Formats: sequence, C-alpha cells, structure tokens
Amino acid sequence: MPKIIKKGIASKVVAKTKNVLKSIQSGKVSKAVAEKTKTVKTKKIKETKVKEPFVLQSLRGMRDILPEDQPYWEQVRRTTERLARDYGYARIDTPVLEFNSLFARGVGEGTDIVEKEMYNFVTKGNDKVALRPEITAGIARAYIQHGMSVWPKPIKLFSTGPVYRYERPQDGRYREFYQVNYDVFGEQDPILDAQVIQVATRVVQCLGIKSVQVQVNSIGCQSCRKEYRELLVSYLESKKQKLCQDCKRRMETNPLRVLDCKEDKCSQVAALAPQSVDHLCDECRVHFKSLLEYLDELELPYVINPQLVRGLDYYSKTVFEIWSGEEEGRKSALGGGGRYDGLVKLLGGEPTPAIGFGLGMERLIMEMKRVQARPYRAPRPRVYLAQLGELAKKKSLKLFSEMEKSGILVAESFNRGSLKSQLRVADKLGVELTLILGQKEALDGTVIMKNMVSGVQETVTIAKVVDMVKKKLKTDNVVVYHDSNHENHNHNNTEEK
Ligand code: HAM
Repeated sequence: MPKIIKKGIASKVVAKTKNVLKSIQSGKVSKAVAEKTKTVKTKKIKETKVKEPFVLQSLRGMRDILPEDQPYWEQVRRTTERLARDYGYARIDTPVLEFNSLFARGVGEGTDIVEKEMYNFVTKGNDKVALRPEITAGIARAYIQHGMSVWPKPIKLFSTGPVYRYERPQDGRYREFYQVNYDVFGEQDPILDAQVIQVATRVVQCLGIKSVQVQVNSIGCQSCRKEYRELLVSYLESKKQKLCQDCKRRMETNPLRVLDCKEDKCSQVAALAPQSVDHLCDECRVHFKSLLEYLDELELPYVINPQLVRGLDYYSKTVFEIWSGEEEGRKSALGGGGRYDGLVKLLGGEPTPAIGFGLGMERLIMEMKRVQARPYRAPRPRVYLAQLGELAKKKSLKLFSEMEKSGILVAESFNRGSLKSQLRVADKLGVELTLILGQKEALDGTVIMKNMVSGVQETVTIAKVVDMVKKKLKTDNVVVYHDSNHENHNHNNTEEK
C-alpha cells in the first residue's frame, strides 16, 4: 500500500487549504479559489506518495506447509485427535485474535511473551488486540464467557491451531507455529495431573517418538510461593554480579524466570539456588508427593527438575515439560504445561482448578523426522480410469464422479491423450483394475475392465460398472477417502498403538 507522507510541502498545502476552507465558510474567499487550492493539495500529496517495495516471500519466522510435508501434519492431527477422543476431551476452537489485556492479565505483564513477543495492534474500531501468543488464556476466557462453571466436571477440552510469538526465528522456533492443547477444568485431584502428563507422553509415543523424557517440578501455590520468592530474591541479590542483564531485570519482575535462563553464568547461579520443592506448604507438598506416586503407578518415568518454572505466570503447583529422551539434538521442549488453579478467577470467573499442556506441532514433526517415524500414508487408488476420444473423455468425467460417490478411490489423467501413456500411469500407481473407455465403448455404453494382475479383460455395461468394480475389489476392502459414512479405518491406520 502506498504510504502518504504529510510533511514538508504537502503539510503546508494542507494547512493552507484548511485556512482557505475556513475563509469560504466565513465568506471571505470565492469557491473558485477554493477549488483551485483543493486541486493543488491533491496533486502535491499524490507526488509525495511512497511506494513500498513488493516483497514476494512469506514473513520471517512464518512458513508455508507444502503438500510434501502434509503426511507428517496429518499424522499429528489424526493421532492428537484420536487421543483426545480416547481420553474424553471435547474439541474447542477459540479466535486467533483476542483483546491484548486478556494475555497481559492471564499470561502476565512481566513475562517475555507479553513484554516482548506479542503481535499487538489497534483495529479500525480502536480495539487493542493481539494475535494469540498461546491458547490457554483464550480457553479460560471462553470457559467464563459460556458459563461452563455449571457444566458437569471435569471439563476436558482439546484445542489446536496457530499461535504467534515475535521471537528470533531459529531451528524449531517460529513466529507462527501450531500447538495442540489439552486442558481440564474443575478438578484439583493430583490424579488428574498424572493423567494429563500421561496423555502428553502418549501423544509423543504414538507419533513414533519412543524415547520421551518427562520433567516435573512444583512451584507451589500463591501463598507458599511468596515466601519462596523472597528467599530466592535474597539469594539472587547476593549473586547479582554474575547474572546477565535480562536476569538482573527479572530479579525485580519475575525472579523465578532466572532459574531457567539459558545463559551459562545464570545456569551456574540457578544450580545452587534454593529450590521451590523444599519450600512448599503442606497442601502443595502432599499434592506433589501424590502426583509422583501416581506417575510411579503408571510406570511413567520422570525427572524432577528444580529449575523448571515455565515462562507463563498463571502456573501453580505442578509444572512439567516433555522432551525427547535422546540427548542428541535436544535443544527445546516438545511441549509443556502445568496447573493453573488461579487463572479463571484472575480473569473474573469463579475459582476453578485447572491443568493442561501444549505441544508444538513443528517440534513434534522435527523429532518424528529425526527418529524416522512414519508419516501418515494416504489410501492409494486401486482403480484407474483411462479414456480415448472426445466422447469417451466426456463420459469418463461422469463415470469418475459416480465412482467417487460410491466410495471408490479412482485415479485418472484426463489431460493425457494417448492410451499408452495413461496405462503407464496406471502401472506406476500399481492399481488392481483399469477401466478403459474408448470411442467404441462410449458409443455402445460399455467399459472395458482390465485386471492389471492377470491381464484379463472383460466388457461390462456402463450402468453396471460401479457394482462390478465393487465386487472385484470385494466391497469391504474398498478404500474410501473422504466420506465419513463409508470410512474404513483399516486402511488408514498408520498410527502406532
Ligand atoms: P509453552 O511452553 O509456551 O506453553 O508452549 C508449548 C509448546 O509450544 C512448546 O513446548 C513448544 O513445543 C511450542 N512452542 C513454543 N514456542 C514456539 C515457537 N516459537 N516455535 C515453535 N514452537 C513453539 C504454552 O503455550 C502453554 N499455554 C501450554 C499450556 C496449555 N499450559 C496449560 N495448558
């Protein structure tokens, strides 16, 4: 869009025009003079329009997901949706845009996400909005807005979609990325914490990433964290010289974040810092102990990481992260989450315990590729439709659609003229049957059905061909690809159980 620069000569003209218009209103200048001034104004402003360069590429940190990569995305979508169903989560979708105050209040003013990474802007209606930098605050907002507090508990919600953070892009770190989130509202029993962690590890393992590491910690509740925070700040004060600039600032705003700073010198300070698990109140200690017992019961290995604090302010008690179990190439978590018992109240709802986690889809896919996990395999057509001549081409268009309606996956290449090249395609696809519609067949209302394994050909009437094909392929093995009424899972099931 061209930008109008109203400065220098243009602004002087605007000022002059305003004066002239005022003069007309007061009857001092003729309309003709005014018209002339108006024309000069428009001309001058046009001259100062600056054309912004046209950049033909996606924005930094944002990517196209091309068809060749889609089998991995499809595998993640199918697996995460299946596990959501298996564990009783109902899907919820919330808008990508929200009032930015939701995140400032929910995620926290002092967090990197809100302070540095939000895509904020003002709409034409003067609303201050932000592209969501995470999904949880929006879900908590929806929970309150739709009166879910009266629904039977626990309420389990599954959500997926794009998330935006203005971070420095690097491997596995984008400005637009996709998350899957599983959140549970209305239950404070630590058995839920254990089950939520189990769901997170199941997702990762079902995607073929067998080696998973669960890191857990407890950062206490509002009351015990206050005491711990004071203790931590006084320790950090004594080591202030050794901290990076960011952490010196964090000491004031968000001291717990100093513990997971990636700078070497800060990690050394963090390693000897007082640990939150040693300063929990009775309730938080019992909660954490029970969680660990439930994890043991599930035979789900975990590591207690006292430096794990998470980058969002709403967490209390349990926090956890899911990492690839393999040291090699391990830079960032596949996912993370925790309890956020205070968030709904903080946003104006009734006190409601809650817990959940988010997994980064790009990171899951990166790891799947690294461990050579299987992507989704789309069902392949078992029938090929070949045609020769204008009339046959027309008739095959209809026949293709009849087959599709009957749930038979068919391949064709209407753009190819020669029968030889079409049969070559059929061979390459490895189909079991090829239907051939030539000039003669089109006139007779018949089709040649060729068995590609035995080479046997028979002629059938076009009216019966769909039934014949079904019979040949044995109806219950017919691959259906997009009609849920016919869906046959046996062919699509590439997920690891
Ligand atoms: P988070 O740890 O900020 O938590 O993000 C969850 C996951 O999103 C990360 O573990 C990572 O896989 C992925 N992720 C984060 N930033 C990026 C990025 N710049 N590029 C690619 N992937 C990224 C949350 O967002 C919480 N709302 C999760 C939650 C749900 N807690 C409770 N319920």
